Amino acid sequence: MIKNISVIEGDGIGPEVIKQTIKVLNSIAIKYGHNFHYKNSLAGSKAIEKFGNPMPEETIDNCLKADAVLFGCIGEPKYDHNTRGMRPEDGLLKLRKKMNLYCNIRPIVVFPNLDKSPVKKELLNKVDFIIYRELTGGIYFGEKGRYNNGKIAYDYCIYSKSEIERIGEMAFKAALLRKKKVTLVDKANVLETSRLWREVIKKISFDYPDIYIDFLYVDNASMQIIMNPQKFDIILTDNMFGDILSDESSVLTSSLGLLPSASIGDYKSMFEPVHGSYPQAKGKNIANPLGCILSGSMMLGYFGMHKEKNIIEKAVKNSIEKKICTQDIIDLKLSSTTDEVGNYIEKFIKNQ
Ligand code: IPM
Ligand code: MN
Repeated sequence: MIKNISVIEGDGIGPEVIKQTIKVLNSIAIKYGHNFHYKNSLAGSKAIEKFGNPMPEETIDNCLKADAVLFGCIGEPKYDHNTRGMRPEDGLLKLRKKMNLYCNIRPIVVFPNLDKSPVKKELLNKVDFIIYRELTGGIYFGEKGRYNNGKIAYDYCIYSKSEIERIGEMAFKAALLRKKKVTLVDKANVLETSRLWREVIKKISFDYPDIYIDFLYVDNASMQIIMNPQKFDIILTDNMFGDILSDESSVLTSSLGLLPSASIGDYKSMFEPVHGSYPQAKGKNIANPLGCILSGSMMLGYFGMHKEKNIIEKAVKNSIEKKICTQDIIDLKLSSTTDEVGNYIEKFIKNQ
């Protein structure tokens, strides 16, 4: 297969983790006779420097034309105080919106031989759930502003029935192929948008009689994720709650650096690790490339390349079993560099 992949390395550790991912994708291409063409575009702080805009039209164009987008991460403390629309993160939000990537899928899987989680080991056995986070609506994209000379600020949280329905359907379909349970996380005791989510999701659930549906308030859910993580299968939630719960859930896995994600729209999709740009680690060859590599494998699954996806996952599992790991998930003395982890996985695939 020929696939055109739009690549955005972004800021901080982005270029380092993307480099390892492309190495791994190339080893897959050689093994299975695929042609992956990569086209790099700027976003985030590099785009601010070059174009005065964190998400230039040219980048959006490249992404819309490609078969998929592979995204590193963005964020640069130097620009934290830029005006609205001009922070690196605003570039990412703009791209998600322009590509209509409304369904963000974040799998939370605990690898049995990692022990950096502060959560008790017996609670972590067989934890395997997926967060379905709505990604183009809610408080992130509602009107925002200030008045009274800047002394009063507001962010408007808004959802439509159709925005909830389209991700709701995807979550139920995913549950059918798994443990058949959907947990809607909201704050329906307080928020009107949450009450609409409940109404719409309840209605969808009638079309899926085999799925067990559960409703949790977000404050309770955030406690249950730590105290009782095995009980989850698909967590369905809005943009803001999904953002917070995914960082929290990463604690179960030992490191945020391990988490991949897929952002799906009607026509296009983007694949990016859940972690941020981790500026303190930039250029040190210590960043964990696995979140990005696993995002690459989710991309292959989206292309229908299931064998290829599985082999990357097998390689990642093997690297962890063999303790070829970066310092966020293993003792510093035993740790490998970003490059070494990428090389190990590349070689594992080659030798299969
Ligand atoms: C994420 C990130 C982004 C978000 C930031 C960088 C805007 O935290 O993808 O989880 O809040 O969505
Ligand atoms: Mn986040």
